[in-house]
Amino acid sequence: MATILAIGIATLDIINTVNQYPQEDTEIRALSQRICRGGNATNTLVILSQLGHHCTWGGVYVNDPDGQLILEDLAQHHIDTSNCRIESQGKVPTSYIILNQRNGSRTIVHYRLLPEFDFKDFQSIQLNPFDWLHFEGRNIIETARMLERVQQIAPTLPISLEIEKPRPQIEQLFNKVNVLLFSKAFAQANAQKFAYNKNDAATFLRTMQQLAPKARLFCTWGAKGAYALDTDGTLFHCPAYPPSQIVDTLGAGDTFNAGIIDNLCRQQNLATALNHACRLAGKKCGQLGLSISTT
Ligand code: ADP
Ligand code: FRU
Repeated sequence: MATILAIGIATLDIINTVNQYPQEDTEIRALSQRICRGGNATNTLVILSQLGHHCTWGGVYVNDPDGQLILEDLAQHHIDTSNCRIESQGKVPTSYIILNQRNGSRTIVHYRLLPEFDFKDFQSIQLNPFDWLHFEGRNIIETARMLERVQQIAPTLPISLEIEKPRPQIEQLFNKVNVLLFSKAFAQANAQKFAYNKNDAATFLRTMQQLAPKARLFCTWGAKGAYALDTDGTLFHCPAYPPSQIVDTLGAGDTFNAGIIDNLCRQQNLATALNHACRLAGKKCGQLGLSISTT
């Protein structure tokens, strides 16, 4: 069991389940609606907490009913929110999500009107209790300063970084961390810029390794599973673990990231961690939400 701090977002997710993805400019009825907390970093913490780790979230929320819903969910999962910044104005990041019952696909329209957790907020967190830090690759300038602070004051503390979307200058974060968790969307969006085939995860990872030679790299690939590249150049692939029915892929990547962090905290090797993360993410795709049974 490890003590883990994650810096990133919590969202309000408004999830409409439909029996097929709608055409533009039409009206359809949702089969059901679910309103719950989401957000990559906090989703990952919710899984890690269920796997037995002590989890702390560093992020921003608004002191309003939506913020309360987020806090209550995190409290239920025993996640410490005492280092968060609380705003009296603005709106918690909100995702309007269409979940297609036929294939479990999730389409997200995201809106935010809230300042990001910044370097000043991070500076006031005592890092001594933590065994692992996890960051979202967002708010690049401030996140770079946070990572540099960790390198200065706690150089042996392992750091993982999720790289989900292309953002200006995001590459400057890569060589400041130990573990990089890439998404397929990021790999494909950068294929032209770095001149590799967009369907070739292995070459993508080898290209990224040149920017972060000391980091261990992972990349999810949807129904094709995921890949990992060790610092010595060894490449691993693990096929997906398809559930009997794909029900809900929302948060599959966040679950995968939790699986990796969990196993690396337990000193498992890369291949074992990759397999564990794919198994966990596959199971998640076969159910609604992020409750996992650990028996
Ligand atoms: P996200 O879109 O949430 O970032 P991905 O779609 O890349 O995440 O999926 C993350 C992981 O979830 C994959 O590496 C895989 O292990 C698992 N996964 C995703 N889709 C499926 C699927 N259809 N069947 C089984 N596992 C899946
Ligand atoms: C899933 C998720 C949702 C959230 C959105 C934010 O990965 O974290 O819970 O609304 O992504 O980008």
